[in-house]
Amino acid sequence: MLIRKPADIRPSEITSRENYLNRRKFIQSTALAGSSLIAGTAAGSIVPEERRARLTGVETSEFSTSEAPNSYTDITTYNNYYEFGTNKDDPFRNSQEFEPRPWSITVSGHADKTGTFNLEDIVKPHVLQERIYRLRCVEAWSMVIPWVGIPLADVIKQFAPQSAAKYVVFRTLNDRARMPGQRSRVLRWPYIEALTIAEAANPLPILAVGLYGEVLPNQNGAPIRLIVPWKYGFKSIKGIVSIDFSETRPRTSWEIAAPHEYGFYANVNPNVDHPRWSQARERRIGSAPQGALQSIFGAKKQPTLMFNGYGEQVAHLYDGLDLRRNF
Ligand code: MTE
Repeated sequence: MLIRKPADIRPSEITSRENYLNRRKFIQSTALAGSSLIAGTAAGSIVPEERRARLTGVETSEFSTSEAPNSYTDITTYNNYYEFGTNKDDPFRNSQEFEPRPWSITVSGHADKTGTFNLEDIVKPHVLQERIYRLRCVEAWSMVIPWVGIPLADVIKQFAPQSAAKYVVFRTLNDRARMPGQRSRVLRWPYIEALTIAEAANPLPILAVGLYGEVLPNQNGAPIRLIVPWKYGFKSIKGIVSIDFSETRPRTSWEIAAPHEYGFYANVNPNVDHPRWSQARERRIGSAPQGALQSIFGAKKQPTLMFNGYGEQVAHLYDGLDLRRNF
C-alpha cells in the first residue's frame, strides 16, 4: 500500500517554485514567438494515465495571476475532499490507492448531445491551458494554484445546451468501496454542485485535469474537477462523473448540510460574514515568515477581495441581485 506522509516525500520530487516560474517564463516567451512546437501539440489534448506524468501542449492564459503559487506540497497535502476523510491530510493519505481510470462522464438533461462519454473524448477537442488562480476556501484560508485544464464554457458548448437549460449540475463519483469517507454521513452523497448557465458560460471556470504542469493528483480531484475562482472552494467539485443540464436549481451539498451557513451562490464576499466567523480576511497557506511555525496559525492574514479579486470578469453576472440574501 502506498501511503506516504509529507515528510516521506523526497525533496527532489517537489518542484522548486523558482524552477517552475523560470520554466513558465520560457513557455510564455516561446508562446509569444508563435512557436510551432506549442501550436503543433495543442490540437487533440491528451491526459496521460500515469501519476505525475507531464502534460504537453499546455498554453498560458491571460487570466492567470502573477502572484507566486503555493508549493506542490502545500497544494497536495492540505485538502478538503470529504470522500477521503475530513482532516486536511486525510485526502492525501487515503486517496493513494484510488484508480481514476477508466473514467466516464454522463451528460444528461436539456442538451442536444447527451450520453456517456470517456474522459478522453471530452478533453480531446480542447487545448489545455494553465490557469494560475487564487483559491479562497470558505474556512478563510487561501492558496494560489497553477491548474491545468480546459475552459468549462467550451465543454458546455460541445454538448449544445437547449434554452430550457438554466443550471449546470455536477456530481462526484458515489462509490463507498473506492471512497472510504463516504462511509461517514458527514455529507449526503454523492457530492453535488451547480452553476447557473451564465456562470458556466463565463470564461473563468475550468475543468482541471492537472496542476503544476502534471496530471491531477487524486487528492485534488483526479481525473477531472471544476474550478470556479470567484466562489468559495466548495463550489469547485472534484471527481466529476455527471453533468446535467437542468431547468431547476438543485440543492447543493453544503446547502443541504447547513442551509443557513452555505448558500447556492457562494461568491467570495468579504462584506458578508459566515454566521460563525468573519470572511473579511484570509490566511494564505504557507505564507508564515521564515522560521515561524509553518502551521495555519503562523500564516499571515490578508484582506479578502470581493469575488476573490475576479470582479472585473464576473460582477456583471450579479447585477441587481442582493448578495447579502443570495449568499
Ligand atoms: N469536492 C468533493 N467531491 N468533495 C469535497 O469534500 N471539497 C471542496 C472542493 N471540492 C470537496 C470538493 C472544498 S471545501 C474545497 S476548499 C476545495 O475542494 C479544495 O480543493 P483542493 O483540495 O484541491 O485545494
